[in-house]
Amino acid sequence: MNPHPVEALLRPPVELWSALVAAATGTMAILAPWALMMPPGVAHAAAAALFTLAGIRTRQAWRVIRYQRNMRRLPVYKLRADRIPLSRHKLFLGRGFRWTQRHTQRLRDTIRPEVQHYVQPGALYQWARRKEVAWESIPILNLFAWLLRQPRWWNPLKPLPAVGGTPALHAVEPDEQDVWMDLGERVGHTLVLGSTRVGKTRLAEILITQDIRRGDVVIVFDPKGDADLLRRVYAEAKRAGRARDFYLFHLGFPEVSARYNAIGSFSRITEVATRIANQLPSEGNSAAFKEFAWRFVNIIARALVALGRRPDYQQIRRYINDIEPLFVEYAREHLRRFGQENWATDVEEIAGKISERNLSSALKGRDRDAIAMMRYLQAQDLYDPVLDGLVSAFKYDKTYFDKIVSSVGPLMEKLTTGKIAELISPDYLNDDDSRPIFEWLDVIRRNGIVYVGLDALTDTTVASAVGNSMFADLVSVAGHIYKHGVADPADDTPTRNPTRVPTISMHADEFNELIGDEFVPLLNKAGGAGFQVTAYTQTWSDVEAKIGSRAKAGQVAGNFNTMIMLRVKELATAEMLTDQLSRVEVFTLMNVSGVNDSSDPMSGIDFQSRNEDRISVSEVPMLTPAELVRLPKGQAFALLEGGRLWKVRMPLPDDSGDPAMPADIAAIANEMERTYITNDHWYRTRETWWHAIADTDALVTPETEAGG
Ligand SMILES: Nc1ncnc2c1ncn2[C@@H]1O[C@H](COP(=O)(O)OP(=O)(O)OP(=O)(O)O)[C@@H](O)[C@H]1O
Ligand SMILES: [Mg+2]
Repeated sequence: MNPHPVEALLRPPVELWSALVAAATGTMAILAPWALMMPPGVAHAAAAALFTLAGIRTRQAWRVIRYQRNMRRLPVYKLRADRIPLSRHKLFLGRGFRWTQRHTQRLRDTIRPEVQHYVQPGALYQWARRKEVAWESIPILNLFAWLLRQPRWWNPLKPLPAVGGTPALHAVEPDEQDVWMDLGERVGHTLVLGSTRVGKTRLAEILITQDIRRGDVVIVFDPKGDADLLRRVYAEAKRAGRARDFYLFHLGFPEVSARYNAIGSFSRITEVATRIANQLPSEGNSAAFKEFAWRFVNIIARALVALGRRPDYQQIRRYINDIEPLFVEYAREHLRRFGQENWATDVEEIAGKISERNLSSALKGRDRDAIAMMRYLQAQDLYDPVLDGLVSAFKYDKTYFDKIVSSVGPLMEKLTTGKIAELISPDYLNDDDSRPIFEWLDVIRRNGIVYVGLDALTDTTVASAVGNSMFADLVSVAGHIYKHGVADPADDTPTRNPTRVPTISMHADEFNELIGDEFVPLLNKAGGAGFQVTAYTQTWSDVEAKIGSRAKAGQVAGNFNTMIMLRVKELATAEMLTDQLSRVEVFTLMNVSGVNDSSDPMSGIDFQSRNEDRISVSEVPMLTPAELVRLPKGQAFALLEGGRLWKVRMPLPDDSGDPAMPADIAAIANEMERTYITNDHWYRTRETWWHAIADTDALVTPETEAGG
């Protein structure tokens, strides 16, 4: 620690002079002690003392020189994935230092005009950059231009790496160390902010690599579908010997993707309707349609479940367009079980008496048998809530249907068209389709690794609908784990440790694309079920815009205990970090000089001169948004462990010559095809979708279905 109040590091390394003098005198004492009029014994002792002094002063000078040199370079920090450090208790973030008042002080010192030549690249460097362009297309000289561009050790004028920003932000501390974050902190969730192309996804790679190697359940949401991220997840799963537990779900590559029924598992049946209705707009007029759509989908979902059929998008869409077949099917089943023996003839009789002219407008054009069945059931006084719902839907006026179809119709159409339809409404009975069907609870039980690519660049609506349904599904699974743990009583396949609540590391890249009402409970409550979320986004305003309310966005932000901020452009986002920091005192050195003339000829004093160094103290913010705008790529400020500020530079994952890294998605597909086949089709043999259906009066009870 420097005992002086002012630490001047941007100045000539004057210590070198005294080191030089001491070393020269010491040399003289050894070689020519007579010149110093010393007997040899004394001369040797003096030489030893002088060399020690020279050593100390050189060290001090070296500190200054090193500090200044760092100001003008940006060392590249690459790390091979298998070299990323791993700990059972901590998470490696990169290299850096704890940011304190000292660094704020040093950073302020770098902006003073008189020290600019220590901070800015020199004139020769600027010349090289100009010539690089000017010589580009001139024969022979272009060879020199090429040499100047080479980022090699032999090139003293090599350009800084293309990461932008100000090196000074990291150079203010020459002694960096590994930065670790406590794993216990992660249940408090982590938020990573950074504008576009500054290293969020590369940081995700570093964190995911560690989570996979540590053995967590890892779930990666990637709305954009970053190919490097997918390759990384797969390579690390393979390296950790977990390739068999890897699932790829990718809307952009349906041929190789696993299948997933976004509305096929739930712990309350109403979730099905909520997952669909939540994707509809809720402003103004649409709000009423949303309610209506919810009710209608709920009726369909309840009927399907009661009939022992698992809801999926295809069926919901079919029955939204025409509820009649579902009503007839359910009514038949109901009457078969509870009706009187001769119900069929009774219904036929009623059907014969129906005259088209007397029907209400809603029933015109309906099937006679269906109308007869409805009338018969109404006369029976057999109360059944599912049937009640179906009857009321059946009787709805045509105009109501048009409203529903116009509100949910387009969404359902999108979800059930093209190749993705089979992915998200899987056909459980199709034996020719070898793509696995996964379910969250199963994935968690098997300690799986899931990569979810949503291909949002192609279709945002579908990406967000599927992503949000997945979250909702995860929330419901979290609730289940919280209550019952992960062990499956009906299951005899060995789980690794049934009593342990697994750690579920969820990484949500492009978080702003995904955030919806479903995400909030996942942050609030899922910690108890072992969920730890790391979310990556560009600006906080994107999130606010997607959620649609400032207060709600604030609530979401409040759920992230750890914040890592890379370069951001937006003031409001930068302030999320800077506003949480305390203010610190910095010193400013002021030179004062003055002279007073005396006009009194009789006094002995002609003038008085004065020279002072004044230190003034002012209070400034520890960090300002302007500094966050100037961060180089791959560098960040991290607010860890209850408000401790760290400056970190993250390694860039280096996969040159990594044998585990697949070349592209085709290679992954190829390798996975083999795993699918060896994965013994576990997913077809078990039906686990009824985890405790709480509120339906099912005709077919879960037990009979699961047993049959
Ligand atoms: N740690 C790092 N060191 C040096 N360069 C980096 C580092 N991290 C990222 N970069 C550079 O930034 C580029 C973009 O990184 P990345 O894809 O992670 O950005 P992003 O923030 O996820 O962008 P987007 O918002 O567009 O998804 C990389 O290709 C790399 O050149
Ligand atoms: Mg990215």
